[in-house]
Amino acid sequence: MSHPLTLTLTGAAGQIGYALLFRVASGEAFGPDTPVRVRMLEHPRALKAAAGVALELQDAASRVLLDVDVSSDPRHAFDGADVAVLAGARPRTAGMERADLLEANAGIFGPQGAALNDVAADGVQVLVVGNPANTNTLVVASHAPDVPADRFTALTRLDHNRAVAQVAQRTGAPVADITRVTVWGNHSRTQYPDLRHARVGSRPALDLVGREWADGPFVDTVAQRGGAIIAARGASSVASTATAVLQHEHLRRHDVPGDDWTSAGRFSDGSYGVPEGVVCSFPVVAADGTWQVVPGLDLDTTARARIDASVAELLDERDAVRALGVLGPGAR
Ligand code: NAD
Ligand code: LMR
Repeated sequence: MSHPLTLTLTGAAGQIGYALLFRVASGEAFGPDTPVRVRMLEHPRALKAAAGVALELQDAASRVLLDVDVSSDPRHAFDGADVAVLAGARPRTAGMERADLLEANAGIFGPQGAALNDVAADGVQVLVVGNPANTNTLVVASHAPDVPADRFTALTRLDHNRAVAQVAQRTGAPVADITRVTVWGNHSRTQYPDLRHARVGSRPALDLVGREWADGPFVDTVAQRGGAIIAARGASSVASTATAVLQHEHLRRHDVPGDDWTSAGRFSDGSYGVPEGVVCSFPVVAADGTWQVVPGLDLDTTARARIDASVAELLDERDAVRALGVLGPGAR
């Protein structure tokens, strides 16, 4: 058995928490030989439910789960965290303006960032799932000035998977044959799922799916998939999100196989003209446990315009949280 790993999950009594934790307990997250300590962080009103999930986790009699802890105190829950998955967020409710949503979430992610900064393990890796995921990442990182920017990511592997699945469905090719898909921008309807460099086996995906489909129905379906799931289920994606979290973590630790890449929201280093300091989804590969942007891809005018539109939304969100005064001293 290897060294135990501490996973802190926020919003642990929520839907994604419930789907994720039992897969962690079965060894799917970090492998069958890595013992895991789970620390669940919940809002006080959901502590009882979180304690119930902890009882069920005990009943899973997991061979990898060392212990499970439940708390509503971020300083307790992030103590020693090697990996922090932040799914606890305030959903938008009727009559709520976007600024209200950003402010309410900043009230959650700000204190969590400060706690992470002070008590998490030195090498902590943070994956933000709770929406608006990119801007929540910006907020949490701004309150954790001692944690390097490349340790923070926003989940866009779900969008990436949605894009791959659409290509598989259209071409009839197996998912394993579809590589080099990219999701650029915000985890929102402005995101740009991009097939310009994608391949199906050894062939360019565009030759098989057609540029018209790639620039039209494909983009709309992937970018609006979250809304379609909410409309159909009456609740947002849960199991597919948990799958994406597990894949994101697995690929970050083991790298993306072959000459493929994945997508993740990370602080821009200025690549592809995206201003530094925004958390944008890029094509990425893993190096030493952090995500590096894949360099040197050509962007035509259509791709450029789509990326710019999503980055404009990210800049708007950054301006909004700046104006609310909720960014911490470590704003990047
Ligand atoms: P949910 O409402 O079932 O669970 C959210 C949980 O967060 C609740 O249990 C709530 O008590 C908890 N919470 C609220 N404030 C908290 C705080 N201060 N500290 C700790 N926990 C707190 O929602 P869900 O279905 O599990 O989704 C969670 C989030 O993930 C939502 O914001 C959703 O929009 C987002 N999401 C993101 C993606 C993505 O791809 N990035 C995909 C699906 C869902
Ligand atoms: C998704 O992509 O399924 C979710 O982010 C949608 C949402 O608004 O929760």
